[in-house]
Amino acid sequence: MDQAQLPVFSVLPQHVGIIMDGNGRWAKQRGLPRYKGHIEGAKTFRKIGEFAGDLGIHCLTFYAFSTENWKRPPEEVAAIMDLFREYLRELDDRKAENEEKGIKVNFIGDRTGIPRDILAMMAHSERITRKKDHVILNIAVNYGGRQEIVHSVRELAKEIEKGRLKAKDITEQMISDHLYTAGLPDPDLIIRPSGEYRLSNFLLWQSAYAEFWYSDILWPDFTEADFTKALRAFEQRNRRFGGV
Ligand code: FPP
Repeated sequence: MDQAQLPVFSVLPQHVGIIMDGNGRWAKQRGLPRYKGHIEGAKTFRKIGEFAGDLGIHCLTFYAFSTENWKRPPEEVAAIMDLFREYLRELDDRKAENEEKGIKVNFIGDRTGIPRDILAMMAHSERITRKKDHVILNIAVNYGGRQEIVHSVRELAKEIEKGRLKAKDITEQMISDHLYTAGLPDPDLIIRPSGEYRLSNFLLWQSAYAEFWYSDILWPDFTEADFTKALRAFEQRNRRFGGV
């Protein structure tokens, strides 16, 4: 979007998490197979990612595939994997443009079980964008918040086993530092469209003080105007972090 047309905010979240929900229902409403909803959802992902970057939001995390999503019919899982492939190829094609915009891409989640060609493309995307950090684009793939906390705790347990750490010295910061989002600010705002009011195992530890914004719009129909509404709501929130 043209810089002059961009909305202006008195306060912007540093990190926005988005649960891209409602693709299946969007397709069903139109009598289409579910994967068509994911195709449209992937377009919305590109559109909102770009808009958020243009607005100057530093960090974005999109929930693309949860540890539970493997339970879906194989053809739906395969269609989502194909959308990842397409996007990963695009990241390589648009290398120069993304570099200019200062985009860094990170994949968060458990890498086991992800097809090998996708893993290689994920690593390649991270490598070619690693020098920038103006906009950090996290894509959660095979991600589960509880599983992420277990991963962090296991890393700390290894330190204990090696005698380098004592249980009583474990801090919140240490747990944060071993999550996939280590070094990134916690999300200030979590957006969930499609009329569901759940966190669904998304950024469990990190969203301790996040503001939530829900909407009935299905993700494929989600627009820049909806994202702006979420940011306007955030602007009005009085964040106290447990204080008064
Ligand atoms: C949830 O909607 C959505 C998913 C499980 C998949 C999200 C994937 C994409 C948007 C496409 C690929 C993304 C990238 C990064 C290229 P749902 O299927 O649960 O919807 P429903 O609740 O209406 O069934």
